[in-house]
Amino acid sequence: MLNRRTFLKLSAAATSLASVPRLLFAQAEESYHPRTPLPPVFSPKIDRYIDPLPILPTLNPVKRKSGSTHYRVRLLEFESRLHSQLPPTRLWGYEGRYPGPTIEAQTDESVSVRWENRLPQQHLFPIDPHLHGAMPPSPAVRTVTHLHGARTRSTGDGLPERWMKSGKASTYSYPNHQAAATLWYHDHALGITRLNNYAGLAGFYLLRDEEEKKLSLPSGAYEICLMVQDRILNEKSQLVYRATQDDGTPLPPGTWGPAFFGNLPVVNGAIYPYLDVEPRLYRLRVLNASNSRFFNLYFNLANTPYQIPSLVSFYQIGSDGGFLPRSAKMQKLLLAPAERADLLIDFSAAKGKTLTLSNDAMSPYPGWQVPGQLYAPLNELMQFRVRLPISATKEFSIPQEMPFSELRDSTDFRTRDFVLQETFDKTGRTLGVRINRKGYDDPVSESVKLGSTEKWRFINNTDDSHPMHLHLVQFQILERQGYDPAALRKDEIKLIGKPRKPAPNERGWKDTAVVNPGEVLTIIVRFDGYSGRYIYHCHMLEHEDNDMMRPYEVVG
Ligand code: C2O
Ligand code: CU
Ligand code: CU
Repeated sequence: MLNRRTFLKLSAAATSLASVPRLLFAQAEESYHPRTPLPPVFSPKIDRYIDPLPILPTLNPVKRKSGSTHYRVRLLEFESRLHSQLPPTRLWGYEGRYPGPTIEAQTDESVSVRWENRLPQQHLFPIDPHLHGAMPPSPAVRTVTHLHGARTRSTGDGLPERWMKSGKASTYSYPNHQAAATLWYHDHALGITRLNNYAGLAGFYLLRDEEEKKLSLPSGAYEICLMVQDRILNEKSQLVYRATQDDGTPLPPGTWGPAFFGNLPVVNGAIYPYLDVEPRLYRLRVLNASNSRFFNLYFNLANTPYQIPSLVSFYQIGSDGGFLPRSAKMQKLLLAPAERADLLIDFSAAKGKTLTLSNDAMSPYPGWQVPGQLYAPLNELMQFRVRLPISATKEFSIPQEMPFSELRDSTDFRTRDFVLQETFDKTGRTLGVRINRKGYDDPVSESVKLGSTEKWRFINNTDDSHPMHLHLVQFQILERQGYDPAALRKDEIKLIGKPRKPAPNERGWKDTAVVNPGEVLTIIVRFDGYSGRYIYHCHMLEHEDNDMMRPYEVVG
């Protein structure tokens, strides 16, 4: 029996690099045998859209004095209902909340946070001790918090090996010398990041500035944070973490696998919630905080998933690291794990109607090599019901252009190449994913000069898309292009086809960007801020844990 993985393994053995021309993939698919279906996951009998969307509270500081603010955040185990018809679920959360409370800061405000690990000694999920950093004598419960998208000193970045065990605390400072943006904080402990995040350790961090104020965007009750995720629950309503091979083959519990896909959509910690809105303009800050799942989101006026979708357009005004140069009118929004989108949507034409936040992304994404859907597709996430009366008189408008400085390409810039690959054992099972055949523990190979600008090219030689993320910086996407797989087997990067400029909603500041299979993603980065050790990695948490993550160093 020849399956995709066995085929890959054979091809990998026949060539020096584990790369397979796409044409051969197609042939393999023809002789593809239907695999044993995944053992079904429990689907609780619940009604959709009966629980209101939880609005995330803003965290109060312990101390605030001219330009500097101090917070204290305890990491706690607690129980909470993810749906009113289900018993409580055991969770981990910042300040005992899932998602964590939102931290709001101003540009240049110096913020410090004391992160206190008050979790119990026992983890919620079995740990795979074969992964680096997760072997004994490392304690099962370890945490370190990273502020994703922030420019911080290396010591306050939340590097994976800087974890602390239960009972310990550390204070990190966030200088916030950067533009207004939708940032987020989450756990980053070496070898168990996927499990700690899955347990609930993630929250928003909104950075605001004067430019943002000038745009007079919807605020207060009209500015809503949405954290979208997927989860699996068992009959007792407890979280199940069950990774699989990326072709869907189940794995023994506690074993690392390259993919996790849940069958329940969760928005702000609630399964299938709804939000009542006024017929007016709203600002939505959307974050995909899933482990592996990509979402392709749209607002649908149709009443059932079986009706022809009727899409409501919206505007994206910001990406990961700030405002776009111009707002982008859109009907669908692709959001990979860790990406954020700052959206404006006008509900005024939908008075009395219901919009369902829907999704049509394949899992794994983009699913070109997967015959049929292996995992629950999660076609719907939540509803917006336009049934509140207009309460405020203030009118908001959609900004057309926003201040932005484009990083210009130059032949002087140093280019670095990063080939993304999957490695397999003799049976064709995924052992892990790597960057340039290296793992996290291999010595630093990228030393960049503080203040310099470089081009980084990610070459995706796997059959899934990867959201690549760099710490310390915000970058810009230059282009995407195909490459010649035959040349890659000889360790040469030969670009083919026409380079494609980023879509209008990707022309702003990014800290995470998607590279599709068979593609090269070129980004342009200025390494400003601080020198020291940082990291870059794929933000599918399964990949990041094993081992698509590398250190880099800024020197100067
Ligand atoms: Cu969300 Cu290393 O990052
Ligand atoms: Cu990050
Ligand atoms: Cu990946």
